[in-house]
Amino acid sequence: MTTMASFIYSWRFTFMFMAIMVRTVFAMPIYRPSPWAQAYATFYGDETASETMGGACGFGNLITNGYGTDTAALSSTLFNNGFACGTCYQIRCTRAKQCYNTFTTVTATNLCPPNWSKDSNAGGWCNPPRVHFDMSKPAFMKIADWKAGIVPVYYRRVPCIRNGGVRFSFQGNGYWLLVYVMNIGGGGDIASMWVKGSKTGWISMSHNWGASYQAFATLGGQSLSFKMTSYTSKETIIAWDAAPPNWQVGLTYKANINFH
Ligand SMILES: *[C@@H]1O[C@H](CO)[C@@H](O)[C@H](O)[C@H]1NC(C)=O
Repeated sequence: MTTMASFIYSWRFTFMFMAIMVRTVFAMPIYRPSPWAQAYATFYGDETASETMGGACGFGNLITNGYGTDTAALSSTLFNNGFACGTCYQIRCTRAKQCYNTFTTVTATNLCPPNWSKDSNAGGWCNPPRVHFDMSKPAFMKIADWKAGIVPVYYRRVPCIRNGGVRFSFQGNGYWLLVYVMNIGGGGDIASMWVKGSKTGWISMSHNWGASYQAFATLGGQSLSFKMTSYTSKETIIAWDAAPPNWQVGLTYKANINFH
């Protein structure tokens, strides 16, 4: 065998080996955009988006918690009992003369509840099975003239771009820890979650409402770690020691890890 042939052979082998290594080390489940689909959009509140604060996801003040004013309330068909809290959507107006030729990205922070006293095609826009976005007025004004009231839209799920790590806002008491999970990147959603005190094993948390998860456990005086699995991408991440031993309810703790 010539030296050249064996060189090429071994080089090719090395390259293949490296490619497999790179894939193994860096292969992270990454949330990918969904195909475009059709829905309708309206808006609620005014230009200040103050009416969007609070909301059925439990994100509280959307400005201080990093979501800004580009948010939407989802019809229950999309809301999925709160599992869609924190998910992100690109939305663009279509087939209406009030459409602007632009799209905007919103985060789901609220539920648009059904109103069965209105017809689904006359005001009951959020009645199942309708797929509907009740957007903040600032977000709606980016895709259409607000005077349109309701417009047909195209939308797709997109990865959520967030600054920094996942945030945990604590409520509850000495025997019950209720955690609002915020600022989630990637798919933006959580399917299951566990908490681990520095003196305990992993304790499964149950979904409470919106983006909150709870554990009935005595965890005071222990540093707390959280393990979370994404609802959509199934990626699991662990935020080790996200809260220090002197953690308190009413405070928000920031992890240095996030979903992709
Ligand atoms: C539902 O619609 C009715 C009829 O328009 C209205 O009077 C009522 O306030 C609505 N309910 C809610 C919860 O918005």
